[in-house]
Amino acid sequence: MATPHIGAEAGDFAPDVLMPGDPRRAKRIAETVLQDAQLVTEVRGIFGYTGTYDGAPVSVLASGMGQPSIAIYATELFRFFGVKRIIRIGTAGGMARHLDVGDVVIASAAHTDSAMTASRIPGIHYSHAPSFRLLAAAASAGGYGAPAPTGRRRRAKTGSVYVGPVLSSDTFYADRAEINDLLVAHGTLAVEMEAAALYACADREGGEALSICTISDLLFRDASLPAEEREMLFDRSVQLALAAFAQA
Ligand code: HPA
Repeated sequence: MATPHIGAEAGDFAPDVLMPGDPRRAKRIAETVLQDAQLVTEVRGIFGYTGTYDGAPVSVLASGMGQPSIAIYATELFRFFGVKRIIRIGTAGGMARHLDVGDVVIASAAHTDSAMTASRIPGIHYSHAPSFRLLAAAASAGGYGAPAPTGRRRRAKTGSVYVGPVLSSDTFYADRAEINDLLVAHGTLAVEMEAAALYACADREGGEALSICTISDLLFRDASLPAEEREMLFDRSVQLALAAFAQA
């Protein structure tokens, strides 16, 4: 029973799905993190695999970039393939001044400028929130709320884990300095392009979702991660997501 965008059969996906944006990351996760991963779809080069992790079935499917794209894949997974939980593992631009590249932001809420949301429930400013169970499990796996280490090791090489709101923007190349200032003044940590639509689709389809973002660049100063470090740090988000699936 293939859908327009997923060329798989019913039962091909596990109830738990990891969702990076980049199809090559999906492939790498399938090859290096999952056991016995089988390719289940490759429509439009959006690779999907199902395997196991610690004996539990887990799938990985790329979302592509932006809210319309992730909404298509999330809706089809929840509605037609029996998927119950999706954790997006992506990158985000750091907005709050205390963030550094390599930090992780677990999105406890997602603001958005997307027209997809303006029309969702007429007259309502819809609040995009993740599954609290997945959020709590990922935060706990990330050591959030644990006493801070002291001395020289205070800032681990792997960066810190934060929990807070993100902006899911429809525009990557935006000129929005004043908007950014207002968002930061309202507690927003980072900008990415998918969490809000994923959370809304999970709500609409009766599923659960969470977005875990590695900070890949900063909006307030020049900084980016070398490719090798980016993959290592990205793997950390994958581990947080797998721990959240196991513990939630
Ligand atoms: N904007 C939007 N999405 C992003 C960014 C950004 O600066 N960095 C990583 N994903």
